[in-house]
Amino acid sequence: MIRGGPKLLASFVTKEQNLIMSVLKIQDLHVSVANTPILKGVNLEIKKGEIHALMGPNGSGKSTLAYSLVGHPKYEITSGKVEIDGVDVLELDANERARLGMFLAFQYPVTIPGVKVADFLRHAVSNVRNPDRKEGENLMPMRDFRKELRDRMTELGMDVDFAKRYLNDGFSGGEKKRMEILQLAMLQPKFAFLDETDSGLDSDAVRVVSEGLHKLAGPEVGVLIITHHKRLLEVNPPNFTHVMLAGRIVETGDASLAQELHANGYAAIRERHPEAAAEEQAEEEAVVVSS
Ligand SMILES: Nc1ncnc2c1ncn2[C@@H]1O[C@H](COP(=O)(O)OP(=O)(O)OP(=O)(O)O)[C@@H](O)[C@H]1O
Ligand SMILES: [Mg+2]
Repeated sequence: MIRGGPKLLASFVTKEQNLIMSVLKIQDLHVSVANTPILKGVNLEIKKGEIHALMGPNGSGKSTLAYSLVGHPKYEITSGKVEIDGVDVLELDANERARLGMFLAFQYPVTIPGVKVADFLRHAVSNVRNPDRKEGENLMPMRDFRKELRDRMTELGMDVDFAKRYLNDGFSGGEKKRMEILQLAMLQPKFAFLDETDSGLDSDAVRVVSEGLHKLAGPEVGVLIITHHKRLLEVNPPNFTHVMLAGRIVETGDASLAQELHANGYAAIRERHPEAAAEEQAEEEAVVVSS
């Protein structure tokens, strides 16, 4: 018998619910693109509430990991496991993964002429918030959607007229990246992967995107930030920093590792991991020979 009646019981339930972990577990993931192995055994665990930074030189496989997680068909998973709370993510198609709460902000966002930002977002939000929704069934009520969209756009310093334009069509580089953050704000995923969402932005836009992410990141979301720059991580200090080299995570540290890499580059990492560095070198030479 629990003393205190239903009220206390309710607080118990809420506490219990908060204790439910959401964990994304990546185990020994191997991925090929066009029959070339790119990821060669990636292990990574992201819990809700955590911010992870993924760094590494160009071509080391960071985007490949992000695309593979959300189910891009070009990326062939040759072995390994990806699970969220025990659900086998690799069995699901890209839509199902989005409904499960996975979101990728693209390094190079796609343009969809003919589809307006507002329509795209209303469909996406309706699908994600109502995972059993079938195509053609009710969308989120227009009035609620409009209000929410307007609020989020205002917070991100975006002109509301943007919502009437075709998705990314003629958007500047910076506008595309803000659009990715707007999607993140509207979809409220459980796991958000941001692939260089801070690249190509002027310093005001970097601030808006960094602060926007800071508002969105919280106890209910796990975030993976792929970046080559400082600012996003200064505003959103990572709990963990991972360094990828030649398709593997070779080192994991805290926020100070990101700072060290920003200051000194990857020379020390290559020295500490000579085998991976040699593999990276061999891959680069193979590209030169074949081109
Ligand atoms: N669609 C593709 N077709 C052919 N090769 C690809 C494809 N996608 C990735 N690769 C190759 O896989 C390797 C890893 O690329 P990836 O884009 O994951 O690197 P990255 O770490 O994100 O680099 P960057 O910091 O430059 O964004 C590169 O050698 C790249 O050329
Ligand atoms: Mg990349």
